[in-house]
Amino acid sequence: MISLSKPYINGKEIEFVTDAIQSSWLSAGKYVSLFESKIGDNAVACNSGTSGLHIALLCMGIGKGDKVIVPTLTFISPVNAIRYVGAEPVFMDCDDSLNIDVNKVREYLKDNSAQAILPVHVFGTPCDMRSILDIAQEFNLKVIEDAAEAVGSECPMGNVRVYSFNANKIITCGGGGAIVSKDKSVTDKARYLINQAKSMGYTHDDIGYNYTMSNVHAAIGCAQFDLLEDRIAIKKKNFKLYAELDMVPIPETANHWFYTLVTDKDLIAKFRGKGIQVRSVWPLNHLQKPYLKCESYKIEKAYTKVNYLNLPCGIDLTETDIQKVIGVLK
Ligand SMILES: Cc1ncc(COP(=O)(O)O)c(C=O)c1O
Repeated sequence: MISLSKPYINGKEIEFVTDAIQSSWLSAGKYVSLFESKIGDNAVACNSGTSGLHIALLCMGIGKGDKVIVPTLTFISPVNAIRYVGAEPVFMDCDDSLNIDVNKVREYLKDNSAQAILPVHVFGTPCDMRSILDIAQEFNLKVIEDAAEAVGSECPMGNVRVYSFNANKIITCGGGGAIVSKDKSVTDKARYLINQAKSMGYTHDDIGYNYTMSNVHAAIGCAQFDLLEDRIAIKKKNFKLYAELDMVPIPETANHWFYTLVTDKDLIAKFRGKGIQVRSVWPLNHLQKPYLKCESYKIEKAYTKVNYLNLPCGIDLTETDIQKVIGVLK
């Protein structure tokens, strides 16, 4: 079986996890702050990308009745997070990169208002952040980035960015996330909210959450982080081996987390029959049951992408595996 992408453990995970367990610091502990320092300045580790998005929206003051522009083509997590804070998603089309169509966002805002935009760096490819930041400035929007899939990708930052370290991501903690911002007051607030909004002792001035990352999860993440650059290099090299197929292009600035085949046919059974695990991109969120009544804007292109297929992209993929995958389409 050639899998789509398995977690890859080849570093010091076991040593660090053993150390965390033997230290008796299972919940809070030194690996959490070490993991945060590896992510960068003003990083707050949390227990999932979804909880990170929830907190990021709260930190931006997004709440009941606010409108948040979000792509319809994404994993459902950011859409759910918009609803957790009582806000309304406005579903937007994608472009050929599979990311949010910034031209349609601009067009929408000429006649409509919104309080925030939540772009998703789909499969690790950065959105057109320069345009998004320009639009945000012009129309006074907060920018909450879903970078769950984009750890290690490079692009200009919005007001707040959220990563995921779920098991299928380029590096993992087993489960986890992080909230990052250039503005320390944002990450200070995030840290407060994920820890039950604890000010002093057991005094609480706000409703908080238990979204902290455990020391054990952070220990896995610390070992994984040290291999991030190597992993991006391997993923870039492997993507090039798929060049003879019609693939969605990936820019150099991307971490090359997932590779996507352009197709309008349902090819899943064909690959599975050859022992190859593939996955089609997500069903569109404006068609998901909880969101059927929400606003969506001129969604056209996203319908043409629903059979696009993620091909195997694991770190341990061999050249022979890739030839086998390509062979299915010959
Ligand atoms: C685009 C996107 N957003 C958000 C998430 C949520 O992250 P988590 O699973 O860590 O909650 C994921 C992945 O799982 C994702 O792929």
